Amino acid sequence: MQPSRAANIATGATQHDSLRAVQWLGDRLHLLDQRKLPFEEAWIDCRDADDVARAIRDLVVRGAPAIGIAAAWGMVLAARHGDDAARALATLRAARPTAVNLVAALDRMQARIEAGADPAALVREAQAIQDQDLAANRAMGAMGAALIRPGSGVLTHCNTGSLATSGFGTALGVIRAGCASGNIVRVYAGETRPWLQGARLTMWELQRDGIAATLIADSAAAHLMKSGRVQWVIVGADRIAANGDTANKIGTYQIAIAARHHGVKFMVVAPAATVDLATPTGDTIDIELRDPEELLGIGGHRTVVAGAQAWNPVFDVTPHDLIDVLVTERGVITQPDEAALRAVFGPGAH
Ligand code: MRU
Repeated sequence: MQPSRAANIATGATQHDSLRAVQWLGDRLHLLDQRKLPFEEAWIDCRDADDVARAIRDLVVRGAPAIGIAAAWGMVLAARHGDDAARALATLRAARPTAVNLVAALDRMQARIEAGADPAALVREAQAIQDQDLAANRAMGAMGAALIRPGSGVLTHCNTGSLATSGFGTALGVIRAGCASGNIVRVYAGETRPWLQGARLTMWELQRDGIAATLIADSAAAHLMKSGRVQWVIVGADRIAANGDTANKIGTYQIAIAARHHGVKFMVVAPAATVDLATPTGDTIDIELRDPEELLGIGGHRTVVAGAQAWNPVFDVTPHDLIDVLVTERGVITQPDEAALRAVFGPGAH
């Protein structure tokens, strides 16, 4: 479904940025079902907090900022139905463990509920979370793209675009802005086994917005770097610990190691809501383990011998010393470490 011009005006979407996958329709949450892309553009409606939690768990909606936004709307649905807020908060918080944006959005909603907010005030808070994410993405896009020399090639991993956020994207926002300015002339996307966020979602999203991208197998990343085709790796994040260690989609860590080896710069792009100063280092980040079945087949077709076992961690942690630049809406941090993060995100920092 192509959004209408009127819908784009209402949502602030523009050329190279035409997709809004999380939509509040006044009485329900309308989600583009990301399990079915790119071949089917089906939408599902969530009418209560349990529906939203299920949609997050089952990856109907995914990407750290998008699941936080969806959860905030889940709390609006709970309030409208007079459901027990503590139960709804607990159910939504437990939907996925790694992305701190989910917790951050629910903390904001919980603070408003504890301050006595009525459902209308909760609608305003959820809308603010969604709007602030879009504004952060646009700001990060401009700052990140400005770091890239004209004529550069980039590699990204997973999907960090409009599908994963309120719109525009984090790493993909930098790529959108960099393609618009001419700083980026080649985009490569890793396919992102096992769920294929890169192949199914990033390729679809970029093509839809008129940005040509080239798919690679995840295992081709180091060879791509050796070929000289990319000068930057640009990725998003699910949780950034106080020392800058960054959890992101499985495979990111090995790409960062390969980038350092080949002299390719490594950029993490994430809103401040992804920074978690309460988690000291990446070692204590809860890495989601999903059903091994996701790895034992592709698109519902079994590819592995019956009886085989599989280990399916869906995130990994890139140590901060492999990250050249962290871009948030609060600015650019080069060589992120604990001192730099506390200076920007710690108490009294802004
Ligand atoms: O399992 P997913 O698809 O939710 O994982 C998403 C990622 O790892 C993204 O890179 C991250 O959430 C940043 S999205 C702006």
